[in-house]
Order: sequence, then structure tokens, then C-alpha cells
Amino acid sequence: MSKKKLLILTGGGDCPGLNAVIRGIVKSAKKNGNWDCYGSIEAFNGVIKEPVEIVKLTKSKVSGIHVKGGTIIKTTNKGNPILFPSKDKEGNIIYKDISKALIEKIKNLGFDAVINIGGDGSQAISEALHKQGLNIVGVPKTIDNDLNATDITFGFSTAVQIATDAFDKLVTTAASHNRVMILEVMGRDAGWIALHTAIAGGAEICLIPEIPFDLDSILKTINKRYTKGKGFVNIVVAEGAKIGGKTLGKNVEGDQNFKLGGIGNALRHALEAKKCKADIRVAVLGHIQRGGTPIAYDRIIATAFGVKAFELVNNSEFGQMVALQNNKIVSTSLKSAISEYNHVGLDHFLINTARSIGISFGESNDSK
Ligand code: F6P
Repeated sequence: MSKKKLLILTGGGDCPGLNAVIRGIVKSAKKNGNWDCYGSIEAFNGVIKEPVEIVKLTKSKVSGIHVKGGTIIKTTNKGNPILFPSKDKEGNIIYKDISKALIEKIKNLGFDAVINIGGDGSQAISEALHKQGLNIVGVPKTIDNDLNATDITFGFSTAVQIATDAFDKLVTTAASHNRVMILEVMGRDAGWIALHTAIAGGAEICLIPEIPFDLDSILKTINKRYTKGKGFVNIVVAEGAKIGGKTLGKNVEGDQNFKLGGIGNALRHALEAKKCKADIRVAVLGHIQRGGTPIAYDRIIATAFGVKAFELVNNSEFGQMVALQNNKIVSTSLKSAISEYNHVGLDHFLINTARSIGISFGESNDSK
């Protein structure tokens, strides 16, 4: 019997654990099925391009890659086939839906199935392509942990570890200089990285997109520490936290996402304008959170996701996304997977944990 062909791609931002997923799929496909695996370079762009950029993913090609960050088949957030960027005659960027032609090309290239490893944006693309007849399975990916269908995404724990390591280092300077140190971490719509880092590192103040903060309350917390307490303050702020009701960042031409950033410095300026007496410094962690070696837990979850994704393909269960739910690897429909965000719920046990040990979320009614 001739072998079937499986196309694998990674889309959106890179994330520690992507390579472990790829390796999990390829190894499992060798051991448990009659499939050859291929990788499309830079998400769907590898298929869209002429000539195509598609590489065969053999067992030797994926050997040992689980320990590496990034993705060996590259990624992009500029390759959405539903809103594909190109230029008109005047050189302006225009967006076209090229999904029909893409699906036809994938089929003409002889692929029987596709596994799309990516975040909410990528899985919305998977769902749109599945609705048009593509045999596709999704694997959730994001350091932000903001996908509701899965209890956790790979990459999140590595990001939290990196942010906590950075936070610990900033505490040294805060304590030695009696400073206010602000650490800006990622977290576009959900404050999971900030919340975990604040608890793991022992922050005094944690600011997340889900809880509006009040500058006067933050100032009060700072002043109290300087008059009664230790005389230094560590703040962790998620990039998506709003100041004056606004999320800070900018649009980049051709990129599907608003680029967040700037809340750390905006907070510093706002506190200085309110005559905060302490010296304030800001560190923006940025993409360091997504780089380097995935920690063991992320490699394990990523490998399990890869194995499950291949199982779904092998059983022709398309239109599904793999997920971890209640300590079980399961699958859920792509449609339901993209229908809800995983915001930090105010009733989540970690909000209570943080509050109970005195971490302030900068709320106006913060009394102690
Ligand atoms: O969605 C994951 C994420 O890491 C966000 O936290 C962040 O806003 C974004 O990606 C940054 O993406 P880029 O690599 O395009 O700057």
C-alpha cells in the first residue's frame, strides 16, 4: 500500500516546544502509521510560494530537536490565507482570500492531511479551511496560555520560568537600591504569565489585562512600603494591561496582530508624574520569554500533543484540535476551541492566592 502524505506547519509567534510537537508527530507517524511527513516552511507560505518550500521530515531530521527552541520549519504571522497580504499597482497593501486555491494546491501536491500547530489565529484559519473541505487537525500553541479549550499550552511554563528568573534578578537591584522595579512581561489578552510570575517571584504589585488598575492605589501601596515596609517594590505588569483604559502598542503593516508594548514605561512615567518619590526602573522582557530551550514539562506536553495529533489524522478525525483537559489528552472541535478565550477568571484560585499573600492588583479598593 502506498504511503499517505502528511503536511505539518507552524504558524504565529514561535514558542518553546514547537519542535517537540513536530518530533512527536513524525516519530509517531513512523511507528504507528503508513505516512510520510513533510513540513511547509513559514506556515502556509511554503505551499503558497512558487516554487513551493516544503521539506521532508524524516526521523533523522527530527532527531534531538525536542530540546531546541523555535521551529525547524519556521513560522510567520504574515501568512493568513484568508487575509493574504499582497500589493496593488500603487504599492498599497491589500488583503485577499486565497484559501480555495491553497486547498486545491495542497491536494494537488498529494497531501492527505495537514497538522497546523498554532495559536487562536492559526486555529481560526484551520477551522475556515476545514469548513472548505481540508483534512486538518490543530495543535494549540501560545506562551500566553489564552486558549480556553486546553488547560495548558506548551511554552507557557517555560515563559513563566524565564520571567520568574528575570524577576528574581530584578529583586536584587530593587532591594539593594531601594527602588521600584517594573518588569513588563507578555500576555496580550490574558495575564497568566504576569500572575504566575508575581506569585513565584513574590511581587508586591501585579497588573493584568483582566483587572483595571488605579494609579493612586499603586502609589499608596508603594508609599506604604517605603514608610512602613522594606523600602523597595517589585511590580510585574502584563503587556496587555490597560492604562487610562488603553492597551499600548502599534500596528505593523502586513502583520495580522497589533504589536503590544510600552505599558512598563508608561506606568513609570505616570507614577513619576504623580510625584512618586522612589526611583523607578523598567525592564521589558519581550521575546526572551519565547526563546531558548523548553523546560521539561513543555517538552512532555508538546510531545503528547504531537502524538495525539497524529492519532487524530490516522483515524481521519479532522476538524479537531488536541487539548489537555483534566489531566487527559483529548480532542475538541476546532469550532469550539476558537470560540472562547482563556482569560484569568477573577474566581481563579491563583487570584485568591495572590491576594491572600498581599499582592496588590492595583485596584482602587485595595485597602491593605
Ligand atoms: O501571542 C503570543 C505573544 O507572545 C504575545 O504575548 C505577544 O504580544 C506576541 O506574541 C508578540 O508577537 P511578535 O513576535 O509578533 O512580536
